[in-house]
Amino acid sequence: MIRFKQRSTDNELMDDLSLSEDQIRSVLKDITLANKWLGGAKITLKALDTIFEKYPRESYTIIDMGCGDGSMLRTVADHCKAKGIRTVLIGLDLNEKSINIAKESSHYYDNIRFISQDVLSLDPEEYNCDILLCTLTLHHFSREQIDAFVKKFVLLTKIGVVVNDLDRNKISFALFRIFSRMFMKTVIAKHDGLVSIKSGFSENDFHVFSKAVPDMDYTVRWRWAFRYEWILTHPNR
Ligand SMILES: C[S@@+](CC[C@H](N)C(=O)[O-])C[C@H]1O[C@@H](n2cnc3c(N)ncnc32)[C@H](O)[C@@H]1O
Repeated sequence: MIRFKQRSTDNELMDDLSLSEDQIRSVLKDITLANKWLGGAKITLKALDTIFEKYPRESYTIIDMGCGDGSMLRTVADHCKAKGIRTVLIGLDLNEKSINIAKESSHYYDNIRFISQDVLSLDPEEYNCDILLCTLTLHHFSREQIDAFVKKFVLLTKIGVVVNDLDRNKISFALFRIFSRMFMKTVIAKHDGLVSIKSGFSENDFHVFSKAVPDMDYTVRWRWAFRYEWILTHPNR
């Protein structure tokens, strides 16, 4: 029986670093499709707009942790360009093959660069940015790992952190099963999507994680379709 009360610790197949670049490309394509159709990218864009309004700057440096094929940063680049906001965008991911795909797909964007980096061994002194994004990556980690790197995230940001991740929920699990059978092509993305929902979060999880960074202001909001938006900001900046 699947227990939704606790986060699953099952492994995702896409975290296997021996997968080929073509396999990774197909899986990330499926994830991007789900992000687009289920409104995932919009959640991050809206959160960014709220931050831009509250913390007006001439330009923003934005890091995306676990950037996959870089589609979120390309969407952010287009969104900000349309609003006349200048950005410097940096994508970090553990998987070098994803980074290669991200570089290849972002050829026409001169304000985006990608670096292969394990979030868990990240030195906050090496990176700094105004805003840090983390979309569908947090659920890959244990509570202890989340506490450790959220502390690092806060150190390397001047404004704050936007997390966009999954609601651990039976209805979403059942609906995703139907959606993935109809629209997703890869067995890996179908499997990992279900594991991801089981490893996702409840609202309370974010209140608990926020205790690791007590000096930050934060908000947690449920967003359609079955996501949480967790925004941490430095007060008085
Ligand atoms: C579900 S994908 C999400 C990709 C992208 N953010 C999106 O929304 O399309 C999770 C990503 O996290 C990356 N990842 C997993 N563990 C990581 C780690 N320790 N450090 C950096 N990236 C990691 C994976 O390689 C993968 O690209």
